[in-house]
Amino acid sequence: MAKRLEQQVAIVTGAGSGIGRETALIFAAEGANVVVADYNLEAAQETIELIGREADAPKAAAFKANVSNSADAEALVEFSLQTFNKLDILVNNAGIGVPGTVLTTKEEDWDRIFAVNVKGIYQCSRFAIPKMQAAGGGCIVNVSSIAAIVAVPDRAAYGASKGAVLALTKAMAADHVKDNIRVNCICPGTVDTPWVGRMVSNYSDPADARAKMVARQPIGRLGTPEEMAEAILYLASPSASFATGSALILDGGFTAFKLPS
Ligand SMILES: NC(=O)c1ccc[n+]([C@@H]2O[C@H](COP(=O)([O-])OP(=O)(O)OC[C@H]3O[C@@H](n4cnc5c(N)ncnc54)[C@H](O)[C@@H]3O)[C@@H](O)[C@H]2O)c1
Repeated sequence: MAKRLEQQVAIVTGAGSGIGRETALIFAAEGANVVVADYNLEAAQETIELIGREADAPKAAAFKANVSNSADAEALVEFSLQTFNKLDILVNNAGIGVPGTVLTTKEEDWDRIFAVNVKGIYQCSRFAIPKMQAAGGGCIVNVSSIAAIVAVPDRAAYGASKGAVLALTKAMAADHVKDNIRVNCICPGTVDTPWVGRMVSNYSDPADARAKMVARQPIGRLGTPEEMAEAILYLASPSASFATGSALILDGGFTAFKLPS
């Protein structure tokens, strides 16, 4: 069967862990050359090693970048052009979260969350889009969250930032539909990544915290990074040629229905 991203070049941000890493792996398995971007270079290099073990031909390269930094974002896009001669797909996945209400969120945490989750997409996209325009088209997939759709208690800044990602996805899609650039996002529910591992480890009883998290899921389990990567692959591939400005919710039913208790 033909590979779905043959001849494509993709940047995946936050690809040193979790959803970003799985996306880089599946993109490489589907024939893409991948720039594995992360501010943790060691983690990005581990992803490269995993790609090397799994795939026969695709090339991948690690790049250290803080997505919220303008010079880093510009250098990241230039790196893709220098290394693989082009850029077809940008996956804006890098993100962070800190618990808190508006009363308990520290101002520096509010600024940090918006700098990475929202400004990071602006920074990477504003350097990537001109290259895509010059090449006649491209594709951007942003990673939002169900926190953009329903309130998650104690996640005020995170939810606000992911709401902004959803709105920014639609704005970018509208602005660049004439450039043949499709822009979509996914809205994951709770996904079993190292992020969630860190979150439950903050509780006095991590096993109990995890069990409660699972109990909240209508489908009876957490999502997997592979399931998110498959959705990102779909949106980035020609199979989704009619999708732009859309948000694909992947949450095991969390935002859609409540089961009788
Ligand atoms: N795990 C979940 O339950 C869940 C749910 C909804 C949405 N998401 C979103 O999915 C994305 C990935 O989450 P994950 O669970 O895989 O997290 P993760 O913590 O496992 O991985 C995130 C990666 O992003 C990198 N990163 C963080 N800040 C960065 C920056 N400024 N520049 C470059 N790289 C940076 C980290 O080094 C890390 O490798 C995030 O945007 C997150 O908000 C996750």
